[in-house]
Formats: sequence, C-alpha cells, structure tokens
Amino acid sequence: MNINIEKAWKELITALALVLDLHEGKKLYHAWRVAVISTMLADEILPENKSDVFIAGLLHDVGAMSLHDHITKYPSMSEQVRNPIIRTHTIIGAQVVSDLPGFATAPSLILDHHEHWDGHGYPRSKQGEEIISGAQLIRAADTFDFMLRDGSNNTPSEVIRKMESRVDRELGKPIFSAVKKIMSEGSFFQDIIDIPRLSSLLFKLRDEISVEGIGEKTDVMGISLSVFGQVIDAKHAYTFGHSRRVSKYGLLIAIAMNLPHDEVTKIKWAGLVHDIGKVAVPSSILDNAEALSAEEYALVKKHSGFTQEILETVSCMKDLAPIAGAHHERFDGKGYHRMLKGKEIPLGARILAVADTFDSLTSIRGYRSDRTIPKAIAEIKKSSHTQFDPDVVEAAVAIFQNFMTPAID
Ligand SMILES: [Fe+2]
Ligand SMILES: [Fe+2]
Ligand SMILES: [Fe+2]
Ligand SMILES: [Fe+2]
Repeated sequence: MNINIEKAWKELITALALVLDLHEGKKLYHAWRVAVISTMLADEILPENKSDVFIAGLLHDVGAMSLHDHITKYPSMSEQVRNPIIRTHTIIGAQVVSDLPGFATAPSLILDHHEHWDGHGYPRSKQGEEIISGAQLIRAADTFDFMLRDGSNNTPSEVIRKMESRVDRELGKPIFSAVKKIMSEGSFFQDIIDIPRLSSLLFKLRDEISVEGIGEKTDVMGISLSVFGQVIDAKHAYTFGHSRRVSKYGLLIAIAMNLPHDEVTKIKWAGLVHDIGKVAVPSSILDNAEALSAEEYALVKKHSGFTQEILETVSCMKDLAPIAGAHHERFDGKGYHRMLKGKEIPLGARILAVADTFDSLTSIRGYRSDRTIPKAIAEIKKSSHTQFDPDVVEAAVAIFQNFMTPAID
C-alpha cells in the first residue's frame, strides 16, 4: 500500500479514537491506553496479530458511542449488562469496524472483548480458549485502564494485586504473566499514566503496524470518513444518516456551481465530518434541543469550533478544517463560532450551511412531522442574503426542487 495513504489512514483512526474519548470537553485517553497496553501484550505473546490488536484496541468501544456517559463511568459488570447500549456495544462495534478496510480480524477481537475466562462475560458467554486470543489482550488492557481510574491512588504493586485477583475469573494465567512482564519493565507504569509519554508510545507503535489488503484503488479516505460520519451520527438519536445526507447535498450543490473536482471532493468529505465536534457535547444535551438552558445552548454552539480543532490535528484533514468548522457561520456575520461574514466564509462552508439546514428541515424527527420539501425550500429562500449566500441558495434550490420525498433514505 502507498506509504502516504497508509500513514494518513492510521492517523485518521488514531484521531477518531481520541474523539470517541472526549467527554464533557475532556480527553479521557481510554482507547489510546487500551491500544498501547494490548499491543505491548501482543508483542509478548501474539506478535502475528499485533496490527489488528492495535486497531481493535483503539476502536474497541466505538459501539458505545450513543451512551449518555462515557463507558468508563460504568466499571461494574452488573451495571454494564443492565444497560442495553453497553450490553450490545461489542456487536455494534464489530459491525462498524467490519466496514473499515485493512484489518480482517479486528471485528472479532472487538466482538469478544468483554468475554470472561470463566464464561461470565458477554455477549456470548464464551469460556477460556474459546475467546479469541487478541480479545483476551484487549480485556486485560481494558481492566488495567479501569483500575487506573477507580479513584484510589494506584501503585504498580496495587495494580498487580488487583489484576491477580481476577485470574481464572476474568483473565487466563498466560495473559496475567504477560501483564506482569510488561509491568516489570522499568518505565511502563509512568509511560501509561503520563499523557505526553503515552502519546509518543502510541505513535511509535502506530508506525510499527502494517495495513494489509488495501489496494491502490481503495478509496481509503472516503471509506474511513464515512465510518467517522456513522459514528458521529450514532451519538445523537435524531441524527441518523445526517452527516451522509449533508455530504451528499453539499456535493450536489458544489457540482451545480461548477466547482473544480478537488473542491467538490473536499466539500463531500467535510460534509461527512462537519459535526464531529458534537462528540464533545453530552448526548443528554443534544437529545434535548427544544428545551436548553442558555449555558447548554452555548455548549452546543461550541461544536463547530471543536470540529475545526479536531480536524486540524490530523495532517490529511487539515484542508477540511476551515470548511467543516465554518458550517454555522451566517452570510450576515451573525453566526458562530468565529462570526465570519460574507465571502470571508469559505465557499465550501457556505454550501454546507445550506445543505445542513435543508437536512434539519426535512428529516423526520420525533417532535415534528410537518417537514416537507416545499416548506424547507421556502425557509431557505427566506434566509437568502441573511443566513445564506444567495448564489448558493439559487443553485441549491434548483436541486432541492427535484427531490420528491423527504430526505430519509
Ligand atoms: Fe468495551
Ligand atoms: Fe473499554
Ligand atoms: Fe452543526
Ligand atoms: Fe449538522
């Protein structure tokens, strides 16, 4: 595989994992830590599966995206199995990851990562060696991270003692021996706790893994960004398919405006990730859009700024950041988050603003069923010159008039 595509792809997945760990504006680093620990364990006892363990470690909890709290807030098994989202997050996660190119066994590692050695895990109550080996490593790393977060001041020997108490119940003996071995290596504990050291260890391991089976013609960015889009939309009960539709409408408007191919592609991609910053806004607030306090609304309004920040951290997405980050700016300068005005707003963002509003106005949502295409078009026309660029409105309306049914594909 082309080295640059491979590098970009790995950066994307790392960024996605960090985004998944944003909780109330803070980065929790759960996925990065689980990826590092499980990959180090793989180095000891399962080197042939190291790359898939790394990816599965990064994305092991992707299926828990729609939880109101972060999954690390549910440490006990009984709490986990009582919650339907947690009980099924291994299945959903395996399904999401099976769409990503390059890692054939990662979905099965994710599916098994809450199975326990004694058969008391979920979702399939597998036992002992029935549990796929890579998943046992992720289980151990996951438990390790839970222990570091449990509030008591953990020392290395305390963690070893707690892990040992789980041998033959949650973990098999060989995994525990591997955990003891990596912990005995001088700087391990500090490397895991200290964020700059954790990050550099993660980047080093990332360089060591290889992506198999992606051909030159595979649309790696397109596939990965569409997985990003699915994950973002899963955060919020009412936005199923929103990112994909905004991307599609943005693409159609851009083509109608005769933009060059590169620009059209950028708009299509930026549409898929325009709301990625919503991941940092609690779902309890996103799901309650009709009755927000001023403070909560201010937090919702921060999401486009978060989108911009997140995309700026990934070198292959830097170009998308100014477009996706400006999708709530208004043509009259009264939008957010930078209050740009008129042509100061990148054209791609002016296009996505119309696409985004059109989808909000036509999507079937629980609390409104009067959303028709003619009404949406009328509202968009009414906001030409104020909220929207009139040239974009003209091109968009010509396209939207051809849509016969509400956009619920
Ligand atoms: Fe999990
Ligand atoms: Fe986890
Ligand atoms: Fe938005
Ligand atoms: Fe949106």
